[in-house]
Amino acid sequence: MSRSDAGSRADSAPSGVDTSVPHSARIYDWWLGGKDNFAVDRATGAAMLEAIPTLRMMAAENRRLVHRIARYLVAEAGIRQFLDIGTGIPTRPNLHEIAQAIAPETRVVYVDNDPIVLAHARALMMSHPAGRSEYVHADLRDPERILAEVTRRGTLDLGQPVALTLIAILMLLGEADDPIGRVRALTDALPSGSYLAITHPTPDFNPEAVAAAVAAATANGVTLVARTRAEVERFFDGWELVDPGIVPVPAWRPDGAPPVDPEAVYYWSGVARKR
Ligand SMILES: C[S@@+](CC[C@H](N)C(=O)[O-])C[C@H]1O[C@@H](n2cnc3c(N)ncnc32)[C@H](O)[C@@H]1O
Repeated sequence: MSRSDAGSRADSAPSGVDTSVPHSARIYDWWLGGKDNFAVDRATGAAMLEAIPTLRMMAAENRRLVHRIARYLVAEAGIRQFLDIGTGIPTRPNLHEIAQAIAPETRVVYVDNDPIVLAHARALMMSHPAGRSEYVHADLRDPERILAEVTRRGTLDLGQPVALTLIAILMLLGEADDPIGRVRALTDALPSGSYLAITHPTPDFNPEAVAAAVAAATANGVTLVARTRAEVERFFDGWELVDPGIVPVPAWRPDGAPPVDPEAVYYWSGVARKR
């Protein structure tokens, strides 16, 4: 994996980027070895690492899973359209690069609400000429706007199956943000044969450590909610989970890369198909 921009930001921020409060995209970037993060992000990321020293490995496992899910959806499920919300700072290979390596005509719409992702959006729009990839600066808490923008741009045909990918984002919505309702508003707009892919951190494997990491994030102003397997399963209500169901991230269709103890990654993952 490599970041799109090699140069260090040396704590000078693109316009619109607030460096006085930590942001999840930048914390995640720091864990993955990127340079698009600031002192406040590193301080929060480090406090969380004290609680869970293996968080960097977990972030890397999540990225690897994005690759496996994209390959599965394109090569085995026949998907040619993706709506990826909570994309993060571009990390090569990006989802559209994985998908278009198999089916160049694949279309991808990326969505994020962090100005630093917007500043790097160009890397997300380097589509294969046979397909399309676009970036929409929008918030998961406003699904109507996301759908309106997707329709207005005509990048995706909502009459054909779409894969909605919500990778390591739903934990950033507290219950007051109605994450179930937001996901439902999106999935209701997708036709039969569409897919929903989710990864989500959980307290299920190590409640004390996860509670300490959540407390470190919250103390620094970052909303973070770890959810149990049953809570994660609710996001898929009414959809048909594909094999192997809801499993720890490394256990979702492993591809022969060096094995990681599944329960050492405190994240559930699942992919489901709309009937
Ligand atoms: C932990 S990163 C995950 C990045 C990527 N999906 C991955 O797994 O590599 C979470 C991303 O979600 C974005 N995000 C957080 N809350 C959001 C919201 N309400 N709407 C849209 N994006 C959001 C953050 O800016 C960040 O880029």
